[in-house]
Amino acid sequence: MNRAAWKSRFGFYLVAVGSAFGLGNLWRFPYIVAENGGGAFVLLYVLLALILGLPLLIAELFLGHSNRKSVMSATLLLDAKTHTRWKKWIGRLSVVISLVVLSYYSVISGWVLHFLMQFFIETASRFGVESQITMAPLMRSGVLQLGLASVHLLIATVIVTKGVQEGLEKWVGALMPAFVLMMVVLVTKTFSLPSTPEALRFLFYPDFSKLKLSSLLAAIGHVCFTLSLGFGTMVTFGSYLSDKEHIPTAAFRITLIDTLLSLVAGILIFPIALSFNHQTLKEPALLFEALPGFLLSLPGGAWFGILFFLCLYLASLSASISLLEVIVSNAMEFKKIPRMSAAWGALAIVLILATIPAFSTNLMRFTGEGSAVELLDFILIQLILPIAAVSIGSLVYTSIAESEKQRLFIDRLKIESLAMYSHWKWTLKYLVPAILFAAVLLQFFALLK
Ligand code: PHE
Repeated sequence: MNRAAWKSRFGFYLVAVGSAFGLGNLWRFPYIVAENGGGAFVLLYVLLALILGLPLLIAELFLGHSNRKSVMSATLLLDAKTHTRWKKWIGRLSVVISLVVLSYYSVISGWVLHFLMQFFIETASRFGVESQITMAPLMRSGVLQLGLASVHLLIATVIVTKGVQEGLEKWVGALMPAFVLMMVVLVTKTFSLPSTPEALRFLFYPDFSKLKLSSLLAAIGHVCFTLSLGFGTMVTFGSYLSDKEHIPTAAFRITLIDTLLSLVAGILIFPIALSFNHQTLKEPALLFEALPGFLLSLPGGAWFGILFFLCLYLASLSASISLLEVIVSNAMEFKKIPRMSAAWGALAIVLILATIPAFSTNLMRFTGEGSAVELLDFILIQLILPIAAVSIGSLVYTSIAESEKQRLFIDRLKIESLAMYSHWKWTLKYLVPAILFAAVLLQFFALLK
C-alpha cells in the first residue's frame, strides 16, 4: 500500500502549524502565564520551546519519517530486539493521551462555537442596545456544552474520514493565514487601550520572584501541548513527509511560528484582560471573559466578533482534526481498522469521555477550586504528556541507527546542520531528561508544601 503523502511542501507546513497553533496558544497560554506570574514564565517558556521543544519535535518527525508509520507501529519497528514492552506502552500512551485531550479540547471548541453563535445572533438582532455576551449560559448547562462539543467532533470526523489529502491538507491549509492577519489587526486595536504598558510589562518584564516551584513543569507541559508533542501527531505527520524536506529546518520554523503566535496572543489578550477585569486572569475562562466585551466595544464590533471566533474556531478545528488523525491512523495501521470505522469509533469514545469536562463546570464541579477541566489538564498536560514526549525522544535517540539519524539530520548544503547534529543528540540524551527530572522534583516539593 502506498503511504499517503502531502501534496505540497507548503501543505506540510500549513498542517503542522495548523496542528500546533490552536487553543493552546490563544486560550491556554494566557491563563497559564497569568497563573505563573507573567514575564519570567514567558521567558522560561520561550527558552524551553527552543531547548526542549525543538529537539523533541525533530525526534518525533524523524520517528515517523524513518519508517513511515504512526507512533504505535513506528515505536515497535525501532530496533526490534530492545525495550519491546516499553516501546509498546509509549505508543499506547500517546494514543490514549490524544483521546482524552481531544475530549476536553472538543468541549472548549464548543465554547468557541457558542461565542460564534452569540455574535451571529448579536449582529442579526442589534438595535443599538449595549448587550452582553458571556460564559454564563455555558457554565449553567452541561448539556449545552456536550451538544456543542458533539457538533464540533462531528465536523472534525467528517473531514478526517475523507483521508489525508482531501481532508486534512485542504481544510487546514486554507484556514491559517486568515487568522494570523486577523490577530495582527486586533493587536493594533488593543494598543490604544490605556492598560497596554502595564500588560506589556506583565508579559515581558521577568520578575523571577513570581515563579513558583511548579512553574518549570507547567512550562514544559505547555511547550509539549502547544507543539503537539507526546501525542504522536508529529510522528504521523513525519510519516507523510517527503524525503526532500530537511526535517530540522522544518521543525525550527514550526517552533518559531508557534511561539511567536503565542506571544502575539498574549499581547492581544492581556491589555484587554487588565482593563476589564482582574479576577479571571488565572482561570481557563480568561480568553472568553475578556475578549467578547472588548470586541463589542469596537465600532462594528459584532462583525469583529464573528470574524475572530470564526478564525479561533477554525484553528481549534484544525488542531482537533490532527488529534483525531493520530487516533485514526494508529487504529488503521495497528488494528487494521478501515478509516471510516476508526474515525466513527473514535468519535464515540471521545464523546463519552467529553461528558466529564462538559459537566464539570456545573454538576460535577469540585469543591471550591477548579473544575474537572483543570484537574484533567494538570494530570494530563503537566505530568503525563511531558513524560510521554521525553520518552519518545529518548527512544529515537537510543533506537534509530546512527547512520539513519545522520542521514536525516545532516544536509550537505546546510553546513550548520553538521554542527547542530551533535548538539541535538546531546540535548536529547542529557539535557531534556535532566530538565524534566528537575521539574518533576520541584513539582513534588510544591505538592508537599
Ligand atoms: N497544539 C495544539 C494547540 O496548541 C493542541 C494539539 C495537541 C493539537 C496535539 C493536536 C495535537 O492548541
